[in-house]
Amino acid sequence: AAVRPDLHALVRDDRVHRTLYTDQEIFAEEMVKIFGGRSWVYLAHESQLPEPNSFLSVRMGLRPVIVTRDRAGVLHAVFNRCSHRGATLCREQSGVAKSFQCPYHGWTFRNTGELVGTPWPQGYGEDFDRTEFGLHKVSRVESYRGFVFATLNESAPALTDWLGPATGWLDYWIDRAPGGEVLVRSGVHRMGYRGNWKLAYDNAGDGYHPAFSHRSLLEMASRMGESKDMAYFGRSPDEGPMRTYMLGNGHSVIDQRPNYDGPGSFWANQRPQPGRERVEEYIRAEYGADADRLLDLCVGSQINLSIFPNLLIIGNQIQVVEPLAVDSTQLSWHATSIGGVPPEINTIRMRTQEDFPAFGEPDDQANFEEVQRGLAAPEAEWVFANRGLNVPGWQEVGPDGVVSSTATDELHMRHYYATWLDLMTSGGAR
Ligand code: FES
Ligand code: FE
Repeated sequence: AAVRPDLHALVRDDRVHRTLYTDQEIFAEEMVKIFGGRSWVYLAHESQLPEPNSFLSVRMGLRPVIVTRDRAGVLHAVFNRCSHRGATLCREQSGVAKSFQCPYHGWTFRNTGELVGTPWPQGYGEDFDRTEFGLHKVSRVESYRGFVFATLNESAPALTDWLGPATGWLDYWIDRAPGGEVLVRSGVHRMGYRGNWKLAYDNAGDGYHPAFSHRSLLEMASRMGESKDMAYFGRSPDEGPMRTYMLGNGHSVIDQRPNYDGPGSFWANQRPQPGRERVEEYIRAEYGADADRLLDLCVGSQINLSIFPNLLIIGNQIQVVEPLAVDSTQLSWHATSIGGVPPEINTIRMRTQEDFPAFGEPDDQANFEEVQRGLAAPEAEWVFANRGLNVPGWQEVGPDGVVSSTATDELHMRHYYATWLDLMTSGGAR
């Protein structure tokens, strides 16, 4: 068998090696270590499991997993893999079930994983012990204010320690909803691309590409209305006020709020949102003085929060990065609605959540596929993330120790690859 190259030689201060995106063995190892064996991984939002005995089929890297609530409401995660001969046990996306019966030979498991029945039990010897045939359980499942994460690493830090300063940004995002009530129940917008999963993670924290990659969306917006933000995109984005903050453990955020100019700005509603005007007119007529406050709840969060390795919060949406193979990835955009507001407010929020996946994400995915194609050339070995490196005046250390820089700095890639390398090469317990 081929000896895996030393990963320390493949991740440098200003560059990473192409094989991190193309090598099958590195990918297989990531799926074990980065996606749950050592690190916490995002699985679901609690509102997707609204009642006792709710379940949701997800993946933890390549491992098929069922997230369940037991009858008391406690969350569990079990491998969606029958303990008999390995068949996928639950073939539904979501629902309510106290138990699951395997479609292959009919073994039945409680939603907490115990084997509770086999057809024709007389066919098993005296030494058959049902308690040895429960579903494999994911040992630790914890949630932070509705965001459910899991790990197979018994000695992983507590979830809040892993998230670190990212909790403050999650709080900001959650508390924009009245009463902090965020609901992920509006369906999923799924898209796949032929490229490595890290291309999506690289890009989520990249403030360098939008002025180029998303030019057509920006031009469409500019035809819909003038705003200072268009001028911002017209000149070097380095001069813009947006900054990116490194939150530790590979997490980071781009803060676009300094660009936000209130309702009417590009960031609020000058992007293609068919039907928005009519609903907005109705809200103004119906809710009078309260309309401004309500419409402000429709605006996107103005942050791009990346929680390593697979959770991206973009505007009002949750995007989950789901690796399928070294060169194949699925991205799932979960629209969110909020509690405590008239239904029309969630209608407008939905319009603001449709525009980017429809008009912006295809630009990004085209880039992901073209990068993957480019990386097939073995002689050109390196991928560079050196913008902003050692540029005087760009990077600052905040009082909390959080390093920040201009949003066009490729700091995010350099930051998370340090975590990536650590998880891939350290002994295990962290
Ligand atoms: Fe599930 Fe046989 S594989 S019962
Ligand atoms: Fe983009």
